[in-house]
Amino acid sequence: MPQLVDQYQRKFEYLRLSITDVCNFKCTYCLPDGYHRQHKKAFLTLPEIRHLVAGFATMGTQKVRITGGEPSLRRDLCDILETVKTTPGIAKVAMTTNGYRMARDVADWRRSGLDAINVSMDSLDAKMFHQITGENLLHKVMSGIDAAFDAGFEQVKVNTVLMKGLNSHELGAFLAWIKPRNIQLRFIELMQTGDNPALFHAHHVSGATIMAQLLEQGWIEKVRQPTDGPARVFCHPDYQGEIGLIMPYESHFCDSCNRLRVSALGRLHLCLFGEQGSELRPLLQHSHQQPELQQALLTALATKGPSHHLAQGDVGGTQHLASVGG
Ligand code: 5AD
Ligand code: SF4
Repeated sequence: MPQLVDQYQRKFEYLRLSITDVCNFKCTYCLPDGYHRQHKKAFLTLPEIRHLVAGFATMGTQKVRITGGEPSLRRDLCDILETVKTTPGIAKVAMTTNGYRMARDVADWRRSGLDAINVSMDSLDAKMFHQITGENLLHKVMSGIDAAFDAGFEQVKVNTVLMKGLNSHELGAFLAWIKPRNIQLRFIELMQTGDNPALFHAHHVSGATIMAQLLEQGWIEKVRQPTDGPARVFCHPDYQGEIGLIMPYESHFCDSCNRLRVSALGRLHLCLFGEQGSELRPLLQHSHQQPELQQALLTALATKGPSHHLAQGDVGGTQHLASVGG
């Protein structure tokens, strides 16, 4: 079976699958006015997800990340995790969550096969957390992180978007927080989307300035493995935690792209900042459609460009990241 490799010799062993675009938070950079349904279609069903992941797995996909919107808002999340985890060829199932249901459910997710978890947390200060996410729930997310360690996760990844004039002064507090904890804190550079240009221009902080501060304080960049994605990881002898930097505005950011995305409505997105994506859903109705699905993936992948055009302010068709799974 041909593998998912593009014309720039990038291998795509990692699928990011959104299972809902609904979210109950209102992050300033994503859904500042909250979620509003823009379609009447149902999200991918469990059998559709099974067929989709099985098709990808035959072409080399080994890791699947479940995203949203907020994936834990789906009642059949545990069934989805189990289905993905038991697909032949899939070695690792990860999920990104806003942490809302983590304290309550993370042990169930782990029992259902979840191998790795990322939680978004933009501030360690309750008021700032509320201001950025629209929800006064820092305590809930914090107890969710504790619950993840209790449930047996050795490391928890935390995603943080630092923004000038909001939370960027918290870098030191974040570093102190991960000193005694096995957390990989991932600073994601604020990205411009169709919906947030004013916020972007007012608050964008470049990853390079964060990197300079880390290097100054004795953080050391870890050697990258060929299968690593675009994050650059730093460690420090005095810290149990580590730092990941995700700097999409760096010039060679896309060279290490290793992921494809499928939206909750079953559209294949070759890039976070691509156009509206290609429809896979009609090919997910029966397991005997697998050859057609495989062909559709190859045909689409042949058109994947070398990089996004964010630096030119071109965000493709992406209004916000909740629609394509961040
Ligand atoms: N820029 C940077 N990160 C974003 N996320 C969502 N929208 C943006 C954006 N415009 C991140 C969230 C979350 C992850 C799922 O995506 O912070 O951690
Ligand atoms: Fe929800 Fe994530 Fe968007 Fe925040 S960034 S509104 S948690 S989908």
